[in-house]
Amino acid sequence: MKISIREEHPSDDKEIECVIEMAFRHAEHTDHQEHKLVAKIRETNAYQPDLTFVAVDNERIVGHIVLSKITIKNDNDHADSLALAPVSVLPVYQGRGIGSQLIQHALSKATELGHQSVIVLGHEAYYPRFGFTRASDWKIVAPFDVPDESFMAIELQPNALQHVHGTVHYSRAFNE
Ligand SMILES: CC(C)(COP(=O)(O)OP(=O)(O)OC[C@H]1O[C@@H](n2cnc3c(N)ncnc32)[C@H](O)[C@@H]1OP(=O)(O)O)[C@@H](O)C(=O)NCCC(=O)NCCS
Repeated sequence: MKISIREEHPSDDKEIECVIEMAFRHAEHTDHQEHKLVAKIRETNAYQPDLTFVAVDNERIVGHIVLSKITIKNDNDHADSLALAPVSVLPVYQGRGIGSQLIQHALSKATELGHQSVIVLGHEAYYPRFGFTRASDWKIVAPFDVPDESFMAIELQPNALQHVHGTVHYSRAFNE
C-alpha cells in the first residue's frame, strides 16, 4: 500500500466528509460533529489550505488532517499558534501508520512555513510520540475543562513557547 499525502482540494469536500464521519463513528470522546467542524473551519480565516491534508491510497481519500489558526492570550499579550483538529483515518485503514504520516507531514509543513507551535486536545498515549507534551508545562490552558494530560503542545521553532502563556482561543468554528 502506497499512501501519498497532498493538500485538500475543494472538489474533495464530500469524500472528506465521509472519511471524517466514518473515522469518528465508533471513536471515544466524540460529539459526531467533526465533519461539520471541518466545513465550518473552512469558512473562517483560521483555515489554512496549505496546512490541511488528505492521505490518498490509489485515488481514494483514506485520511485527513486540519491545522487551523488559534491564539494564546493572557491579559498582556497574545501569540499565534495552530490547533491540530481533527485528524481522521478510515476505520479499515487505521493502525497502519497513516495517522502518524498525516501528523508528521502537517507538523513539518507548519515548521517550514514558520509557524511557532501547535496545540492538540487528544489522547495522551498517542501525541507524545510526535513530540507533544502537556501544554500546562508552559502555563497554556484550554478555554474549557479538559484533563491536564490530554491538552498538549509542541514547539515548532526552538523555544517558541518560552515566553508564551495564557488561554487558547479557538476560531468561531469550534464554538458554534
Ligand atoms: C487517531 C487516528 C487518526 C490515528 O490514525 P492511525 O492511522 O490509526 O494511527 P497510526 O497507525 O499512525 O498509529 C497507531 C497507533 O495509534 C494508537 N491510537 C489510535 N487511536 C488512538 C486513540 N484514540 N487513543 C490512543 N491511541 C490511539 C494505536 O493504539 C496505535 O498505537 P501503537 O503504535 O502503540 O500500536 C485514527 O485512529 C482515527 O481516525 N481515529 C478516530 C478519530 C479520532 O479519534 N481522531 C483523533 C482525535 S482528533
